[in-house]
Amino acid sequence: MQATKVTAVYYSATGNTEKVVKAIAERIAEKLGAPMEVFDFTLPGSRRQEKHFPAGELVVFGTPVYAGRVPNKMLPAVQTLFKSDGALAIPVVTFGNRNFDNGLIELRNELENNGFHTIAGAGFAASHVFSDKLAPGRPDEKDMKVLEQFADAAGDKIAAMTEIPSPVSVRGDDPVGPYYTPLGTDGKPAVFLKAKPLTHAELCDKCGKCVEVCPMGSISAEDPLQVTGICIKCQACIKKCPVHAKYFDDPAFLSHVAMLEQNYTRRAEPETFL
Ligand SMILES: Cc1cc2nc3c(=O)[nH]c(=O)nc-3n(C[C@H](O)[C@H](O)[C@H](O)COP(=O)(O)O)c2cc1C
Ligand code: SF4
Ligand code: SF4
Repeated sequence: MQATKVTAVYYSATGNTEKVVKAIAERIAEKLGAPMEVFDFTLPGSRRQEKHFPAGELVVFGTPVYAGRVPNKMLPAVQTLFKSDGALAIPVVTFGNRNFDNGLIELRNELENNGFHTIAGAGFAASHVFSDKLAPGRPDEKDMKVLEQFADAAGDKIAAMTEIPSPVSVRGDDPVGPYYTPLGTDGKPAVFLKAKPLTHAELCDKCGKCVEVCPMGSISAEDPLQVTGICIKCQACIKKCPVHAKYFDDPAFLSHVAMLEQNYTRRAEPETFL
């Protein structure tokens, strides 16, 4: 079988998923001699129109894992915007060194429901957006070797395919299990659903970068100190503010981050499925 086009499709608030998905798509496109495109649905403006992928194309589709699943506020976009009548797909998740739990199997199932045929899948450990102590520098050289081997094997699988195989088997519960409950250092659930970033007003020069990068469009353009909409804790505004003016001070959120730092500094390896 051949792929007439390879498209890297992703939601990636802080860039890890973008890096991984693009690298896989580029390598497969090169191997198959197919053109490559990119579709980034991170920002609200890119989530207004349905996209259709015809049979014969390949989509490498990625999201980060939030609470062990596909980010719940992005799930409607995944479910409604990306449709196919038989294109091949590779679901890919990145996770911050704790676990991808049911994120990959959920993404696989959603792509199958949307009319794609999943032929491979992967979960790649990447730096955790909550803390510089969790998987710093990942994906690193060792991860990229695994990524290259995975992309090559997926490309070989496509080239050798004479008929559509059954959906790729990946790790996770089917039906998909519940969201992971974030815990604090006391071992109890850390409830920070309503937490929003604050701003050191003396540092902020109102450049508007945070307004631009918020995937929820939740930061006020008139006053970037105000978060007027829902915050999904993606950390884009924190990481991309040029003067490091934004921060979280919610005690439950900080306790969860401390718990992760106590328990999840060991190296989690990427997992690939073919
Ligand atoms: C709200 C939220 C929840 C997260 N939950 C998990 C999780 O359950 N397990 C995990 O290992 N990493 C978790 N992470 C870390 C991200 O999956 C990881 O940093 C990812 O690579 C970020 O991708 P991006 O750079 O494309 O935004 C979470 C991050 C956020 C923002
Ligand atoms: S990115 Fe930083 S400096 Fe710019 S408006 Fe936002 S908080 Fe202020
Ligand atoms: S306000 Fe919340 S959702 Fe928006 S960029 Fe910042 S952390 Fe992400």
